[in-house]
Amino acid sequence: APTVLGTIAATRELVRAARAAGRRIALVPTMGALHDGHLALVARARELADLVIVSIFVNPLQFGPNEDFARYPRTLDADLAALAGSADAVFAPAVDEMYPAGASQTTVHAGQVGELYEGASRPGHFDGMLTVVSKLFNIVQPDVALFGQKDAQQAFLVRQMVADLNLPIEIEAVRTVRELDGLALSSRNRYLSESERVLALTLSASLRAAVEASARHENVAAAREAALARFDQQPDVRLDYLVIVDPATLLPLEDDATGDGLILVAARVGATRLIDNAPLTFS
Ligand code: PAJ
Repeated sequence: APTVLGTIAATRELVRAARAAGRRIALVPTMGALHDGHLALVARARELADLVIVSIFVNPLQFGPNEDFARYPRTLDADLAALAGSADAVFAPAVDEMYPAGASQTTVHAGQVGELYEGASRPGHFDGMLTVVSKLFNIVQPDVALFGQKDAQQAFLVRQMVADLNLPIEIEAVRTVRELDGLALSSRNRYLSESERVLALTLSASLRAAVEASARHENVAAAREAALARFDQQPDVRLDYLVIVDPATLLPLEDDATGDGLILVAARVGATRLIDNAPLTFS
């Protein structure tokens, strides 16, 4: 089983020894409730480094006042069992180890793209996310850190922070792990009832419709319409946003743009908010 570290001091000690021994260090930041998506990041970390550290911390700073911080699943024992044989150490601090003063006076601001899409629906979310990620980067000082493409805007903003602030860390994005029927794995999927689980397929189905439209050489506007049509058929799924962006900037693509695109979607199924995305190409 992985070594469990509850304090920043113990983590720094382990890292110092590993670095002195010339080992390459990978960090996989998570909020726990681990599933095969998280484990794909850990498996990739194993390929890239000698010491794999997984952090498990439900970060209060990135949850809004009406979001699910209190009921977010906390399953540390199961998480440690899932990581046996793949992670070397787990950094699982208490909230007051990370925020001894109750909050953080100094924070990271995500900038313009941080206000769009997820940021528009969840004000402050990305500032809170980048603040904890930079704290984790400074505690562990990894050579490489891994993020899931599932949270495409998050991965984009982490890369932007690393570039803007000259952080000496390589960022590796790992493609989204899905159920056989297309549903993207998420810790929040466990909130879904059986009937909601079926409705949740609307998100991945809409992405597929857009990908197929672009493969038929339809333009950005037509691909977006094809995706939106899936939501028109499912009034019980409340669409939050659906946008086709340029993966290099995350800004919306013009209707007749060519080249790489990325379709981003967020919707609510019952009380559960889900997100998904897929790459596409326009020709
Ligand atoms: P969490 O939601 O636990 O996700 C941890 C990492 O797993 C993220 O990089 C996320 O993109 C990735 N991930 C989640 N589902 C995935 C899937 N189906 N396929 C591939 N990767 C997947 O994202 C966070 O935690 C937090 O915001 C965090 C970065 C830890 C900062 O608090």
